Amino acid sequence: MFSKKTVRDIDVKGKKVFVRVDFNVPVKDGVVGDDTRVQAALPTIRYLLDNGAAVILASHLGRPKGGPDPKFTLKPVADHLSKLLGMPVAFAEDCIGPVAEKAAKALKPGQVLVLENTRFHPEEEKNGVEMSEALAGLADVFVNDAFGTAHRAHASTAGIAAYLPSVAGFLLEKEIQYLGQAIDDPKRPFVAILGGAKISDKIGVIRNLLQKADAILIGGGMANTFFKAEGYPVADSLVENEALETARELLAIGKTRLRLPVDMVIADKFDAEAAARTMPAGPVPDGWRILDIGPETIEAYSKVLKGAGTVVWNGPMGVFEFPRFAAGTFGVAKAVCESGAVSVVGGGDSVAAINESGLADKITHISTGGGASLEMLEGLTLPGVAVLLDK
Ligand code: 3PG
Repeated sequence: MFSKKTVRDIDVKGKKVFVRVDFNVPVKDGVVGDDTRVQAALPTIRYLLDNGAAVILASHLGRPKGGPDPKFTLKPVADHLSKLLGMPVAFAEDCIGPVAEKAAKALKPGQVLVLENTRFHPEEEKNGVEMSEALAGLADVFVNDAFGTAHRAHASTAGIAAYLPSVAGFLLEKEIQYLGQAIDDPKRPFVAILGGAKISDKIGVIRNLLQKADAILIGGGMANTFFKAEGYPVADSLVENEALETARELLAIGKTRLRLPVDMVIADKFDAEAAARTMPAGPVPDGWRILDIGPETIEAYSKVLKGAGTVVWNGPMGVFEFPRFAAGTFGVAKAVCESGAVSVVGGGDSVAAINESGLADKITHISTGGGASLEMLEGLTLPGVAVLLDK
């Protein structure tokens, strides 16, 4: 199913291997928070080390603008990686130029080097030729294992591949296999759950899934825009007025497959301590706002999920960060886990919700990609994958 060459298909012994990873992880006061993405890169790193490669790791962290910014240094991530691998990890304070070249040259087989944030150079995001060439000059082989950034055509994710034999790492392969299979060859019924704040982020996804899924269960803030499109006033709820026309069109195409909440939990303000009321789907009283799906919706959605063969989920059903408005997201999480379906969850918020629910080990695949997994659900080809050698 995965049509690209991987690290298994090339000889890396004695080679310098440039691995683009997605180490864009939360760092606070120099300490790495959720290290899922670092852990997820370990199989490729270990494989390359075991097979005699010198491993040069590159990533971005955050969105620094216009040059180096100590707030976004990858040094704490390099230190964290060193602990995970149980070995020293060298760090170069630049990803190109003399500092990087010297560090890469000195690197021996079996050793690891982390380069400083690729986005400290504005050329990175422009996919600049000079930067791509400079990165490529550090190594003999390019491995892309940065699934979370594979939807970006940047110098370190795509441009570099023009200059080196380029293959996929294990994480990239696994992500594309799970997401690709769910979309292109799902065990049916195929149910998609879409939530989160905005419709506008997910129009392409809904359009694509309307052609593929047997049911799409809508929740989160994006449901409000659908409600308003159906003619219900939603009072103070988050709503995208500019997306109303699109919402109407999607409802017309979706007919019975696109399911909206039948009830909801409303709040008198956006606050963890807000007063909460449950009401059937309909006009929201003035001064109130929708913050979660209601119990009847959880039941209805759970019934649909019970018979599912494949489930993909992106985006929470409500403001689950506030316990009073978390029942919808956690209720749906439970139903997904109990369904026995092949389940794929993507997107930072839904992944956080699954982790918080304590049910993460019941999910078939939790994606490390937010935007990247959405683009896969949209049926798009990711630039960081397209540039790799075909099998
Ligand atoms: C992500 O966190 O989704 C990826 O690391 C990509 O980051 P970006 O949206 O800043 O390109």
